Amino acid sequence: MLKIWITLLSLSLLWITQRSFEEEVWNAETPLLDVQYSLGESYPDHYISPDSTLAKMGEELVKTGRTIGPNGKRAKYISKHYVCTTCHNLEVEDPDLRVSDPEARLTFAKKNNLPFLQGTTFKGIVNRESWYNDDYVKKYGDEKIEKAHENLREAIQLCAIECSQGRPMEDWEIEAVLAYYWTLQFTLEDLQLTTQNLEKLNTEKEIAVHQKDLQTWLRTFYSTKSPAHFYDAPPDKKRGYEGLVGNPDNGKDLYELSCLHCHQTEGVSHYVLDNSKLSFRHLDKKITKDSHFSLYQIIAYGTYAIPGHKPYMPHYPEERMSKQQVEDLRAYVEEMAQ
Ligand code: HEC
Ligand code: HEC
Repeated sequence: MLKIWITLLSLSLLWITQRSFEEEVWNAETPLLDVQYSLGESYPDHYISPDSTLAKMGEELVKTGRTIGPNGKRAKYISKHYVCTTCHNLEVEDPDLRVSDPEARLTFAKKNNLPFLQGTTFKGIVNRESWYNDDYVKKYGDEKIEKAHENLREAIQLCAIECSQGRPMEDWEIEAVLAYYWTLQFTLEDLQLTTQNLEKLNTEKEIAVHQKDLQTWLRTFYSTKSPAHFYDAPPDKKRGYEGLVGNPDNGKDLYELSCLHCHQTEGVSHYVLDNSKLSFRHLDKKITKDSHFSLYQIIAYGTYAIPGHKPYMPHYPEERMSKQQVEDLRAYVEEMAQ
């Protein structure tokens, strides 16, 4: 009899602790998805439940290009040329998650010692609701991009093949990268909610009629997609982009945090750049020419990608490098070539 009582008692204790766990007060560390789920949203298609072993494999794939597969063997590199972090950060890269502003990003990157890259950060990528947006869909308009636009698994696969010029990823590799991505999801702290904001959330969360509004309100703290608009080289390269005057100090940051990330010796490119006069003079001479080596051309168009072949350089959409920044870089190159 006593045994039964003890069992009942411990069961009810368990029940009480679990309940109070569910009614936990949301704080800075609470993952955004948990909040959204409690507010009545369903999990997105790319949701997978936390799995630290799988996430570890994903992290290795992202950072080194390969990992040991479920068969116990080390798989081949996804790409011979790149790892994902050649072009994507893993940390927050924008001081304000609501806007994709390359000028604010450059200052932030410098302060936090991050490279300034063409691809968007993987931090919070699972909290986005579309990928390969705007001109990626409009200008390329092909079926693979349309699928990738709506589906994170397809976006990973597309980038493995097209951006990193690699082999198609196996299903388990894609799941592993996803598992890793989920470890990079936003928490309430990333959204920079104030104490009052958190209080509002905690008071209103139980009130059913407020839940829909809270879902929408939360989305005003971050962008649900990474916008991408392409631009052309200026019609007259001598004059450059009309009305913009370059600032060489910003140009220096761009050169070091962006170009050198790939073009330094031992980098991914055969075209080596450094801080020598030779480098700057070569770039400077080509600025106004109709050439792959012209800053205007390489930044707006990148180099041509042939899947599976040599490394290529992705272009920068306006949100990843502004026209003002191209002029800043030009001003720096011209100054250094003197
Ligand atoms: C050579 C550069 C490069 C490499 C290497 C690369 N990517 Fe990308 N990736 C890009 C660019 C450029 C985009 C364009 C869209 C964006 O990120 O804004 C992109 C987009 C993506 C997107 C969609 C992002 C969004 O929010 O629109 C995913 C997902 C992605 N890449 C995954 C990967 C994975 C996984 C790897 C490694 C296996 C990888 N990428 C390697 C350049 C690269
Ligand atoms: C994500 C890596 C990456 C970044 C960042 C990058 N590049 Fe490149 N770039 C490459 C690759 C790869 C090539 C292809 C040439 C090769 O290595 O064979 C290339 C090609 C070029 C070329 C043309 C060379 C040719 O053979 O046609 C120029 C010029 C150039 N890059 C300049 C720049 C400048 C300026 C920046 C900074 C604004 C920059 N790159 C940023 C990877 C990068």
